[in-house]
Amino acid sequence: MALPQRSNPGAAPGGGQSYREIAERMKKVQEEQRLVVERMRRIPYKVAVLSAKGGVGKSFVTASLAMALATMGKVVGVFDADFHGPSMPLMLGLSQVKGLLARDDGSIVPAVNVYGVRLVSVGLMLPSEEAPVIWRGALKTTAIRQLLAYTDWEGAEYLLIDLPPGTGDEQLTIAQTIPGLTGFLLVTMPSEVSKIVVKKAAAFAQKLNVPLLGIIENMSYFRCPDGSIQYIFGKGAAEEIAKEFNVPLLGQIPIDPRIREATDAGVPFFLEYPDSEAAKVFLEIARKFVEIVESKGGKSNNARGSEQP
Ligand SMILES: Nc1ncnc2c1ncn2[C@@H]1O[C@H](COP(=O)(O)OP(=O)(O)O)[C@@H](O)[C@H]1O
Ligand SMILES: [Mg+2]
Repeated sequence: MALPQRSNPGAAPGGGQSYREIAERMKKVQEEQRLVVERMRRIPYKVAVLSAKGGVGKSFVTASLAMALATMGKVVGVFDADFHGPSMPLMLGLSQVKGLLARDDGSIVPAVNVYGVRLVSVGLMLPSEEAPVIWRGALKTTAIRQLLAYTDWEGAEYLLIDLPPGTGDEQLTIAQTIPGLTGFLLVTMPSEVSKIVVKKAAAFAQKLNVPLLGIIENMSYFRCPDGSIQYIFGKGAAEEIAKEFNVPLLGQIPIDPRIREATDAGVPFFLEYPDSEAAKVFLEIARKFVEIVESKGGKSNNARGSEQP
């Protein structure tokens, strides 16, 4: 009896993609990873802003730090890894940008704001600000790898990465894909609920062996017009996390409604309101941040950096 003929001799058992298709896809992934390693090696300082909790001010910290570093003369790139809630276009004053340019060689050109901060965000590629991104984990991992493989950061010294809440796909992919990630910057609010979740983020970083560069406490207090202080969200969370995880507390930023106004308008509040307490605290945080990051000499974590991700 003649054996049944396979219609597709290259097909994997059980149907689906052929071996050739799988092999080609794997080759493409490897090539992209090689490009990520190559491009990331050219950027000395790569920091992801992490909190695991939403609404604590990660994006405000990322955008403000980027603009503060730019005003110090640093060349700064921002990678917005919050695909479902990208806020970098708005906070960096780039929400009018529609689409990213690609060069003939296939490299992606970041959008640049008035302070010279370069941005890559899925938010720049959506048809409207309200359009949702409906992606599963695997697609987000691919998007992160491809955007990092093809973006030409044009001489950036710093790459700041704005992360979504959680310790899932995006955070893991960033930690595992970026060779020589200098570290995570933690952001918390003083509330108990934020403290608990941010401790998870700190433990996540330790498990992955990524350095914790510092912690910022945001919305720490409100100064009333009579000068008295109200601890609206509680007190002491960042100090506790700093002690427990042996990470420097970079500063405590007060609540100031002008921060919300400035971030919504895409302007740096520390330049708009330089005399405010929040601006003074923030600029001191930025100074400490640079000191800590640059003390790593752009080589931190390079043991992992020399490997394929
Ligand atoms: N210290 C602050 N005082 C007042 N508003 C703030 C402060 N920090 C952040 N905000 C505002 O709170 C909102 C949430 O901040 P955001 O950075 O989007 O949080 P996350 O990225 O952690 O979800 C934003 O509208 C932001 O402008
Ligand atoms: Mg955010």
